[in-house]
Amino acid sequence: MPHPLEELRDSALREIAETQDESALEALRVRYLGRSGSISVWGEQIKTLSKEERPVVGKLLNESRNAVTAALAETGERLRAQREASALADIDLSLPGTATEIGALHPLTQMLDRAIAIFRRMGFALAEGPDVETEWYCFDALNTAPDHPARNEQDTFFLPDGRLLRTHTSTVQVRTMQSAPPPIRVIAPGAAYRRDEVDATHSAQFHQIEGLYVDDSVTVGDLKGTIEFFLRELLGAKTEIRFRPHFFPFTEPSFEVDVKSKALKSGEKWLELAGCGMVHPAVFEEVNRARGDTAYDPEKYSGFAFGLGMDRLAMILFDIPDIRLFSQNDLRFLRQFA
Ligand code: FA5
Repeated sequence: MPHPLEELRDSALREIAETQDESALEALRVRYLGRSGSISVWGEQIKTLSKEERPVVGKLLNESRNAVTAALAETGERLRAQREASALADIDLSLPGTATEIGALHPLTQMLDRAIAIFRRMGFALAEGPDVETEWYCFDALNTAPDHPARNEQDTFFLPDGRLLRTHTSTVQVRTMQSAPPPIRVIAPGAAYRRDEVDATHSAQFHQIEGLYVDDSVTVGDLKGTIEFFLRELLGAKTEIRFRPHFFPFTEPSFEVDVKSKALKSGEKWLELAGCGMVHPAVFEEVNRARGDTAYDPEKYSGFAFGLGMDRLAMILFDIPDIRLFSQNDLRFLRQFA
């Protein structure tokens, strides 16, 4: 007569072999080998047996456990393979795959990368500031009078709390000087916002590359040399560059920069690209007030600053006729730069 453990083992093996799904298999495992499973409980029962019986039943118990464990593993493997095969059954491997499109850098980003590389060679580090600013950073700290037209709601996007979308990247001049003493040599590329009439060369959101260089003997010659070197590196050695006297409240003297190049589509026309000048002493003084020291002593330090129109630079560089193309997300346009 077979031992009850042998009967248990055989019925477990039979049931496992017949199982058709993985959750039923798990239920069988619990029923036979779980903590109070019908095979497991024999581990306790052995203790009640006679000395002679114990090794015989112990051996049988081990063999049964091993046989059932092996059968569970084997059937589990078979059921998993079946499930995976049936999941693949509906897939037609002969169908063409979904093509993944590889993206490319936006022309403005490509232009900016070139510009940053040129300024890096001249020792300029990158600086940044937020797009949402206070009037102090955008105007007051930059020596701009309370009644200046740029401070008007017709020209500038104000938020309900009185803050505004920066109208130029010159805000970063102030932030940089506030956070570090001279010497300073940074560029700060970023977006600027104005309620300008939108046309082929004006957008309500555009981009500028701000530059600031403060040290103990910076001159207009340094300013001219830096801007000329940058523009000739970017647009070609034959580019003509013109500095026109202009007015900005935060620089004195101030200039506007125009470029002309026969190599460019625009040909013989002068194009206005940037504003620049020597940092106004009033800006240094306001920065000192905010810092609570005299780090930017106007008697000791001088500096130049500039704000290059990045969109216009990219338009010239890539021969793009309309600034609006940058923000329309038309793939036919963007693919030309991929
Ligand atoms: C300024 O914004 C000054 N912050 C520049 C500056 C910096 C002067 C440091 C002195 C020292 P302006 O408003 O001229 O200046 O703008 C500078 C450049 O930004 C322009 O030459 C032009 O290239 C570009 N720009 C201005 N408005 C727009 C616009 N609506 N759309 C596209 N580009 C614009």
